[in-house]
Amino acid sequence: MNSTIETILNRRSIRNFKDEQISDEDLHTILECASYAPSGMNMQSYGFVAIQNEEIMHELVDKCMQIRNISTSPFYGAPTVILVFGDETINTYVKDASTAIENMHLAATALNLGACWINCTDDLFKSELGNSLREKLEIPEKYKCVGSLAIGKIEGEYPKAKPRKENIIKIIK
Ligand SMILES: Cc1cc2nc3c(=O)[nH]c(=O)nc-3n(C[C@H](O)[C@H](O)[C@H](O)COP(=O)(O)O)c2cc1C
Repeated sequence: MNSTIETILNRRSIRNFKDEQISDEDLHTILECASYAPSGMNMQSYGFVAIQNEEIMHELVDKCMQIRNISTSPFYGAPTVILVFGDETINTYVKDASTAIENMHLAATALNLGACWINCTDDLFKSELGNSLREKLEIPEKYKCVGSLAIGKIEGEYPKAKPRKENIIKIIK
């Protein structure tokens, strides 16, 4: 099978990670794939912040647990989290950032890494609780968080795809 198609079909959300960092080379490849995502009118409204620093990661995890009122990390202990922002003054920013997240997810899969889209960061950066992190990471106010991707080396079994819904595709000839 064509390797791109194979990667798309094999991509799964991974929620168990080894306690080991991914290589800088893989991180750069994943971020480059993000920056090549399509965007409305080629506005490239997205921006990416990769977190690998222990102190910042700790603050991010802690604040996301607070915002979700949960006691385990919503990032499943992944050693790398890429926060994805979009410039809200460009009306396709959510779609642009979402295509970039999927590009990164596929790139991670192609590199035999695990990844999972994580939602809680959107709410964190919307709330006052996220203000100090926004300042530390020097993210301008007009950049809204659209999502994040937890990435790491896969621990344990690779999950199987869930059954696909029926009747979601129509071909009209
Ligand atoms: C917009 C969006 C938000 C998601 N948020 C989360 C999340 O916060 N936590 C999580 O564990 N998975 C999250 N996921 C992953 C989905 O649960 C996952 O894609 C879905 O169950 C299908 O599984 P698969 O990705 O392995 O095919 C999210 C996926 C998308 C597209």
